[in-house]
Parts: sequence; structure tokens; C-alpha cells
Amino acid sequence: MPAPAIPCQRALFDIPADVCYLNCAYMSPQLVTVSRAGREAVPLKAQPWRVGEEHWFVRVEEARARFARIVGASADDIALVPSASYGIGTAARNSPIAAGQTIVLLAEQFPSCVYPWTRRAREEGARIVTVERPGDHDWTSAVLEAIDERCAVVALPEVHWADGGRLDLVAIGRAARAVGARLVLDLSQSAGASPIDVAAVDPDWLCAPTYKWLLGPYSAGFLYVASRNHDGVPLEENWIARQGSEDFSKLVDYQEHYREGARRYDVGERSNFVLLPMVNAALDQVLAWGVERIADTLRVTTSRIVEIASEFGYTAAPEAHRAPHFLGLSREGGLPPDLVPRFRERSVFVGTRGDALRVSPHLHVSDADLEHFGAALRALR
Ligand SMILES: Cc1ncc(COP(=O)(O)O)c(C=O)c1O
Repeated sequence: MPAPAIPCQRALFDIPADVCYLNCAYMSPQLVTVSRAGREAVPLKAQPWRVGEEHWFVRVEEARARFARIVGASADDIALVPSASYGIGTAARNSPIAAGQTIVLLAEQFPSCVYPWTRRAREEGARIVTVERPGDHDWTSAVLEAIDERCAVVALPEVHWADGGRLDLVAIGRAARAVGARLVLDLSQSAGASPIDVAAVDPDWLCAPTYKWLLGPYSAGFLYVASRNHDGVPLEENWIARQGSEDFSKLVDYQEHYREGARRYDVGERSNFVLLPMVNAALDQVLAWGVERIADTLRVTTSRIVEIASEFGYTAAPEAHRAPHFLGLSREGGLPPDLVPRFRERSVFVGTRGDALRVSPHLHVSDADLEHFGAALRALR
């Protein structure tokens, strides 16, 4: 097995030595630098006269540029949003869908990426096509079969949130474009841990919150918007998204024009004085490691976890069909009862979604954690 590309980074996290945290798909642990950035930012508003252009405008642009680098886009294509739902809501509002057309989703997809489409389908007389979980773990082929000329929208993750099943977005993007369907991506469970090249996939919209694999705070996120969708309708009409809003004395010279690029889709109060320094600190660290190297390193960790769990009868999807950073482990006969709370009693934190034990490490995971996990599996088999 190749050596990990990045050595264990435990010292950069605030995790006690006896805690084995393998649940980043739920929420990643916040980096020490990110917590520090938040602590330093909190007192700013106690002295409002210190709030200036840097806080209103500069940090916002820095955050856009950082996320753009992570996904291989331009800063002009990035909007600041508070959640994946907000991003998907924006995409749903701006996707043309006609009666009789279809919207392709995955079985058991995360609800934030289902409800906006069921609403649009109901309103337009369109139909949801749900791709069932394939027995051979090959979500990509199953999705490709569902994309045909009736398709208006394909709305997908790269990594299924329940079990880490991975989709080939380049192939799916090509198929969607060939039939004129819009591609909307919810990368909540992959942005920051699995490389994506926006130029190769060419989605219409792509969103990710920062609190999972981007290692940032809760209630912040990004929406990539392809330039062909820059003239759409935002969910709200906030003042700062309009041209000239730097000049606070002229805000009631109402402006018809939005700021350039995807900025019209920014959420109101996007210049969050506390969250943005935290977001920027998190993205700096992700960029310093590099998403490719993060993925290569976590692929080794998840392979080691599969090896350990296989001793106790657990199996995962084959490597070709699973994400580098994320595993669903299942067992014939199902999981032992109350497995997650019993793991928790042993300070091992994992998740379950459906029939799978969801194991999702990051760079804080040490050899000792893997032994700890193995010992818990042995005790709870
Ligand atoms: C695939 C996926 N999308 C979105 C979210 C979160 O959505 P939101 O940011 O709207 O709360 C999650 C959370 O677990 C998720 O797994």
C-alpha cells in the first residue's frame, strides 16, 4: 500500500487523544486555526467603527477566490450562500422545466436536494425519476441509463451521503449536456476531500457548505454558477448585491444592475464578520494540503479501515465505486443493535445511514485511532 501523502495532522485539530472521531460526513472537526480566527473576529462588532471595507468587501472576495481555486473555477462564478439548501434552491428557481420532462435524482438522496425538485416537478407537471441503488455499486451506469431526451435536470451529489458510493461526474456531465439537461451538483459530501474539475464536469450549478469536508464553520457555503446562468433570478434582492453598494451614502439611488458574475446570488449579510475569517482560514488549510493529496491520503486511511472491518464481517463497495474519504460498511444480517451509541460509549464516533455503518475520517486520524476502532469492533461484534 502506498505511504500516506500527508502525515497525520492531529496537532492541527482540537481532539483529545482518547477520542476516535470518524464521522466527518456528519460534521468535520474544526481546525484550531479556524476556531482562533472566529475568536479573534467575535469582538469586532463590539467596536463598530472598526468595521470597514475589508470586512464588507475584501474578505468576501478572498473567500470566493479560495473556493474557486478548490473547484477549478473563476472567482466571478462563485456566490456566498449559507447552506447547500440555499444553493440548490437558487438552482431550482433558475432551471427551466416543462410539463412531461424529468428530473433525475438518486434513491435516498439528501432531502435538501430532493424537496426543491419535487416542488418544481409538481408545479410544472414534470416527473421525478429516482435512480435505484444498484446492486453492483455502479451508480454512474445507473444514472447514465436514466438520462434521456426527456430530461430537464440531473441533480446529484458526487458521493452518496449514506454510503460513500461515488459517481463519475465527468461522464454524467457529458450525458446531461448531450440531451440539453441542466446539471446541478450537491458537493456537500465531497468538496474539499475529493478533487473536482469544474471545467471537465461543466455543471450548471454546484454547491457545498463549509462545515463538512471544507473544514469550516456551520452556516456558510458556496454556490458555483456557470457563466451561462449569471443572468438568472436570485432568491432574494439584497442591497449589497447591486452595483455601487460600496458607497453607503448612495444606497437609495436604487440600482437596476447587479454586481458582476455570480455575485447577484450572494445571500443577504454575506459579509459575516465572524464566519468569513473562519471560512478563509479553513480554505487556506485545504489549499495548502491540496485536495488531491487529501484524497490520496484519506484513500489509504479508508482502505485500512476496510481491512480492519473485514475481520469482523464488514464489506464496503469496491474502490472503483467508492469515495476516497468515505465508507459505508455493511454486514450480512445487518448491523449489531445500537451500534452507534455503543461505539460512542467507547469514545468512537461513527454514523449509520440506512443499513451501513458510515465511517468518514480526515487527516486527524492516527494509527492509534485505527487500533481503537478495531478494538471497539472486536468488543461489539
Ligand atoms: C449530501 C448532503 N447535502 C446537504 C447537506 C446539508 O444541507 P444544508 O447545508 O442545506 O443543511 C448534507 C448534510 O448532511 C448532506 O449530506
